[in-house]
Amino acid sequence: MKLWTIPAFGIDQLALGEGAIPAPAANQVVVEVHAVSLNYRDLMTVTGKYNPKLKLPRIPLSDGAGVVHAVGDAVRGFKVGDRVAGIFMQNWQDGAPSNEKYRGALGGDIDGMAAQYVTLHQDGVVLIPDGLSFAEAATLPCAGVTAWSALQKAGGIAPGSTVLIQGTGGVSIAALQLAKAMGARVLGTSSSDEKLERARALGLDAGFNYKSGGSWADWAVEQTDGRGVDLVIEVGGSGTFLESLKACAVGGAMAQIGVLTESAEPVDVRVILRKQLRVQGIYVGSRTDFEALNRALIATGIKPVIDKEFALEELPEAFRQMEAGSHFGKLVVRLR
Ligand SMILES: NC(=O)c1ccc[n+]([C@@H]2O[C@H](COP(=O)([O-])OP(=O)(O)OC[C@H]3O[C@@H](n4cnc5c(N)ncnc54)[C@H](OP(=O)(O)O)[C@@H]3O)[C@@H](O)[C@H]2O)c1
Repeated sequence: MKLWTIPAFGIDQLALGEGAIPAPAANQVVVEVHAVSLNYRDLMTVTGKYNPKLKLPRIPLSDGAGVVHAVGDAVRGFKVGDRVAGIFMQNWQDGAPSNEKYRGALGGDIDGMAAQYVTLHQDGVVLIPDGLSFAEAATLPCAGVTAWSALQKAGGIAPGSTVLIQGTGGVSIAALQLAKAMGARVLGTSSSDEKLERARALGLDAGFNYKSGGSWADWAVEQTDGRGVDLVIEVGGSGTFLESLKACAVGGAMAQIGVLTESAEPVDVRVILRKQLRVQGIYVGSRTDFEALNRALIATGIKPVIDKEFALEELPEAFRQMEAGSHFGKLVVRLR
């Protein structure tokens, strides 16, 4: 079987090699991986920014979907032929997060999904919805679950609430689709008018090009008749944090997710207390969250948005496209 590894940091260092198809231990399943998707975190991992001390070589990528190829003797919930995806944090099954549950993140602490066959504990996979292709399902473990968690855990979103998404990457577009299905009004920012048009086709109610100058927070407040938004899907990081605070309604919330930009500008914490904001950190989610997302996708018929699919050999090219930020939604690599 073929597999990608990070032998040293840098996209150009990625190495395509060969390995033996693994055999499952008693509690494991072997998954024949059909498709993987890229997250910004994977780009940071490959370039050494996520964890400069990461032990190499490492198989990258947290997100993949495929078919159960073999099961160990003690496996009960899965059989050969089942369509599955790996869960991002292999040890976070349910409930509140903990440092212990954080251990075992695919493509980080442990080898990831960029291999044609992977072994995972039976608790580390979920069945994927029948209506989704492997490519679509491969977008769910990180970006999909994160968007779902943000709307569930930070939100208090109800029909008529206003949600603001930042940019048109994987997490933000998944959040747009889910928030629309929940009856929310969705405002969005992007560096590109063309991407805003594409987002409108998915239900975005109004868009603002953040490269055009001006304050998108002021714009969001105007769009809500002076009230501000109920929830910001905060993927921008410290570079967008202050604008996000400004964009929030009194009693609003921020799902603090991303680290795309940096700023040394001090945070005026008085805004948080005066508006009585909730700033909820989101770190993907549990297996239970993933299963709930899958039920929501089945009920709503939402299909994840894939910008481009690459062939197995083109993984470095896919990372370069992510680095350039030209994508809309998700980038997928087919391993079959
Ligand atoms: N905490 C978690 O559990 C978790 C999970 C997933 C991702 N994340 C983080 O969330 C962020 C997004 O991840 P992703 O995988 O969705 O990334 P992605 O697909 O690469 O999307 C990045 C997009 O963000 C937009 N962007 C860049 N700078 C921006 C800015 N200053 N203001 C607004 N938008 C900006 C761009 O969209 P336009 O081209 O439209 O401007 C860009 O294409 C990353 O920092 C990632 O590490 C965290």
